[in-house]
Amino acid sequence: MIFKSFWFWTLITLVAIQFIPMDVPEQLEGKAENEIKAPEEIMNILKRSCYVCHSNSLVYPWYDKIAPASWYAKNHVKNGRKTLNFSLWSEYTKEEQLKLLDNIPKSIAIRMPLPSYLWLHEEATLTKEEKQKFSKWVKKLKEEVK
Ligand code: HEC
Repeated sequence: MIFKSFWFWTLITLVAIQFIPMDVPEQLEGKAENEIKAPEEIMNILKRSCYVCHSNSLVYPWYDKIAPASWYAKNHVKNGRKTLNFSLWSEYTKEEQLKLLDNIPKSIAIRMPLPSYLWLHEEATLTKEEKQKFSKWVKKLKEEVK
């Protein structure tokens, strides 16, 4: 009997969970002037490696649109945006900016972009040289914010 089959119920479950809403849209409203400003070289790194979880605009790859993978991805985006959103940079207070800037070099040295993300998105890995450039820029920006 098909209804007793493990695969039948697995399929039904997989179809059913697609309808569970989890509202983490790709695009959020925001003012363009609040976006972080950086030299083109740095902007390219940010967009390539950080924006999928730390900005208002991203594009989920197709496999991240399918539950349960989508829950995993959306959770990262939700928490990533909550901790640090480069699209809302000028809305942060000076203290918030300084605190985030303090955390960036440490985070790219250890766990940003998230290892589980890099596993599928090797292209987001920062080279040693890029990490150095990035940290140098962060240092400079810190002086400007102070
Ligand atoms: C796949 C999603 C993802 C990517 C890509 C990603 N992050 Fe994150 N990031 C997160 C999440 C989720 C958090 C918050 C929860 C946590 O700390 O695990 C976070 C937290 C942070 C924090 C805050 C750490 C703290 O303790 O205050 C910094 C800084 C940060 N990320 C920087 C970056 C930078 C810089 C990049 C690009 C080089 C990047 N992230 C790429 C998901 C991501």
